[in-house]
Amino acid sequence: MGKLHRELQLTADGSHTLFIREMDEHYHSVNGAIQESRHVFIEAGLKQLKKENLRIVEIGFGTGLNTFLTLLETSSPVEYHTIERYPLSMDIIQSLNYGKIIDPEKRELFLSLHTAPWNKPVKITASFILHKVIGDSNTCEFPKQTDLVYFDAFAPDKQPEMWNPEIFAKLYDCMQTGGILTTYCAKGSVRRMMQEAGYSVERIPGPPGKREMIRAVK
Ligand SMILES: C[S@@+](CC[C@H](N)C(=O)[O-])C[C@H]1O[C@@H](n2cnc3c(N)ncnc32)[C@H](O)[C@@H]1O
Repeated sequence: MGKLHRELQLTADGSHTLFIREMDEHYHSVNGAIQESRHVFIEAGLKQLKKENLRIVEIGFGTGLNTFLTLLETSSPVEYHTIERYPLSMDIIQSLNYGKIIDPEKRELFLSLHTAPWNKPVKITASFILHKVIGDSNTCEFPKQTDLVYFDAFAPDKQPEMWNPEIFAKLYDCMQTGGILTTYCAKGSVRRMMQEAGYSVERIPGPPGKREMIRAVK
């Protein structure tokens, strides 16, 4: 997958996504990438936690869109751990319009998420620590006492190995009681894996173009 070509595409809200033709898979919803990320991860996840000092784990750093929105939405301390097996090239990153659309004055901040070195914690702002890890989410370690998980892998029918009972059990073990895991996916088999791992799982309305999504609580 690392060698596959990523094509820049516009989604319905004017924000970019990437398309991998060989997999017939997009990085985000074609109905609006920013809209989806806000709905699934920020509104259904981040904003549900009334807590200062958050530790967040993301499966799939990709374009850094979820990371950027989280950075802009938080003022209290955040430790953001994100795992990515196939980092994007700087050419692709520079062509993405997220900085320009979300907040042109923060464009440099968006780029700083990408230029931050991998595999070590990096202070992006006074309150935001980013720890990007190059690796496979199925084998890497997750930090303990995690409050929030953004599960943003490619869809189960496109990359089934990402969605398995072991990863949900491992994430569950690393989370605080009351911690939240959100994903855009609403598949029954995924819900059952989460339930078996111990989560209370709810189906909630999805972003435009998607009837439902999953929120799981430890
Ligand atoms: C649906 S995309 C979303 C990425 C990102 N959250 C974004 O908003 O751009 C899924 C991401 O998971 C990454 N990925 C694929 N296999 C992986 C693996 N085994 N471990 C970690 N990440 C992986 C892909 O390269 C891709 O960046």
